[in-house]
Amino acid sequence: MAELNVKNLHMHFAGVIALNGISFSVKDGEIFSLVGPNGSGKTTLFNCINGFNRPQKGEIHYNRTDLLSRAPHQIIKLGISRTFQNLQNIPYMTVLDNVLLGDHSKISNRETVTRWFSRRQREREEASALDVLDFLGLANYEQKYLSGQPYGIQKLVEIARALVVKPKLILIDEPAAGMNDQETMEIAKIISEIRDDLGITVLVVEHDMSLVMSISDRVCVLDSGNVLALGIPEEVREHPDVIRAFLGEEAHA
Ligand SMILES: Nc1ncnc2c1ncn2[C@@H]1O[C@H](COP(=O)(O)OP(=O)(O)OP(=O)(O)O)[C@@H](O)[C@H]1O
Ligand SMILES: [Mg+2]
Repeated sequence: MAELNVKNLHMHFAGVIALNGISFSVKDGEIFSLVGPNGSGKTTLFNCINGFNRPQKGEIHYNRTDLLSRAPHQIIKLGISRTFQNLQNIPYMTVLDNVLLGDHSKISNRETVTRWFSRRQREREEASALDVLDFLGLANYEQKYLSGQPYGIQKLVEIARALVVKPKLILIDEPAAGMNDQETMEIAKIISEIRDDLGITVLVVEHDMSLVMSISDRVCVLDSGNVLALGIPEEVREHPDVIRAFLGEEAHA
């Protein structure tokens, strides 16, 4: 059974401790949320899982495969993709080409050359990119340039780029940041559909607690690089340390 296991992860940047011995597991088919205040280590954790950061100590395994010895493009090939908190889209390219970039992120430099000349490969990739855009309700946007598109659309393109590689596990960093209430509800629905309809396990970082509580199977609360609480939404919502530390009245909203 597919599973992500993070064990005793430590990551510091010079004197700054970002992760201070984090352990948790994400089960196949879960929507698992990571919450916590700014600077608590959420994005650093994503960067460790996808190979951007090398933690000084600890282990990360996916289906018993060690991720810490692998490069980012190899980790995508294992079935793990991600979105970025600060959009990594290219504004002067079309929506379709931005989504196709996702497919290119899983190949090595050597493979790039051979793929460049394969029309059939390009057609296959375009077909799956169009499927993903359709799934996200963006079918009409494929030939539009990303620049000038509303922020909400750009966030969805970010998700599309992570979905096009057909991951088994997707890491989504703050999908609702900068979104209005209507867009946030739409994002909640999309995340649920990614799991329910596409069968993809979801690890999501998010500050919007009502979104987190409504879609998550389990929630992990980080505080200064430590796990403060982990459990089903109701448990975490009622956890005294969590209420005291961050959620306050919002936890009971
Ligand atoms: N590349 C880096 N170099 C130096 N310090 C870093 C680096 N990346 C993260 N940090 C520090 O590590 C800590 C954790 O940062 P991280 O971005 O993981 O937090 P976060 O929980 O994602 O916060 P936010 O909710 O604001 O996105 C912070 O103190 C941050 O300044
Ligand atoms: Mg972050």
